[in-house]
Amino acid sequence: MPEPEPAWRSLFPDKDFSFRFGFRACSPQEFFEPGPLGSKLLTERARWLDEMPERYCRVRPEGGEILRETVKHAREWAGLRDVPPLELDDLGLAEWLGRRLEPDFVLLRRNGDQFDLVGGCVCFPSSWRLTDKVGLPLAEVHAPVPGLNEEYGDTIARYLSRLRPGMAMTRANWGLSRSPELNHHPDLGLPGLGPEVNVSEVFLRIEWQALVALAGTGGIVFGIRLEIVPLAEVIREPETAAGLRRALRTMPDSVALYKGLEPARDGLIRLLDQAG
Ligand code: HEM
Repeated sequence: MPEPEPAWRSLFPDKDFSFRFGFRACSPQEFFEPGPLGSKLLTERARWLDEMPERYCRVRPEGGEILRETVKHAREWAGLRDVPPLELDDLGLAEWLGRRLEPDFVLLRRNGDQFDLVGGCVCFPSSWRLTDKVGLPLAEVHAPVPGLNEEYGDTIARYLSRLRPGMAMTRANWGLSRSPELNHHPDLGLPGLGPEVNVSEVFLRIEWQALVALAGTGGIVFGIRLEIVPLAEVIREPETAAGLRRALRTMPDSVALYKGLEPARDGLIRLLDQAG
């Protein structure tokens, strides 16, 4: 049987760079159920949560009900057998779930015609802090992303308000990093990409994301599942490498800077030129 195509290939079409909205529907089980890396991921989540739970978990009082509804559904989506102890407070409950689900999760609550981030457990952030974002409307959460609100702000708000419970809507973001570490919390001070790029030190970092609306509270669960692929592997796929090279060439400077790619961009393009 031929190997199934890696899904990350579809991230780099032969088109100039733009942020892409593109969603695909699947069941919440498909997104949240344990995958092949299961125990390794849960062990690493536990390591960060043991070290500093307050860095990775947060729940606002107005997020408590949404959290409890999330736990109820997520136990089923991920096939969890155990039940959270009754004495847990909201923070303890978020941590309980964060130790059992492979994906990170963020909770959103409707506030008029927008959604606010009211809690979550994010052990593997791509260079942002959950603690900076909790309590903010989504448009403010996205404020550091150059051009995103201008281009997609209204579309994102409309999309969220029309989600229907029962299915997961999935999409992806990608970045390049210098280390295969899952946890890129800014306070860890991991080294970024610099002008000297070595193929063995570059990794494609894909965030597979899922939005699931909750029928009871009207909240939304935003799941984030990470995949790390060595650049050497991407380079072996000529069409994907060409799409990535085109994205890097055509990306606005402001976006390259935001993604931490600015110092390495020329070196990365040269590397990909040599590849194909
Ligand atoms: C619904 C459609 C959404 C779209 C199209 C979208 C798109 C994006 C894009 C393009 C980025 C920049 C990533 C990069 O290129 O490196 C981003 C960043 C981010 N998004 Fe979203 N997003 C969506 C929903 C959400 C939701 C529901 C949340 C959860 C609250 C969220 C939280 C974030 C965060 C925390 C960042 C990083 C911001 C930072 O660097 O400070 N996004 N998003």
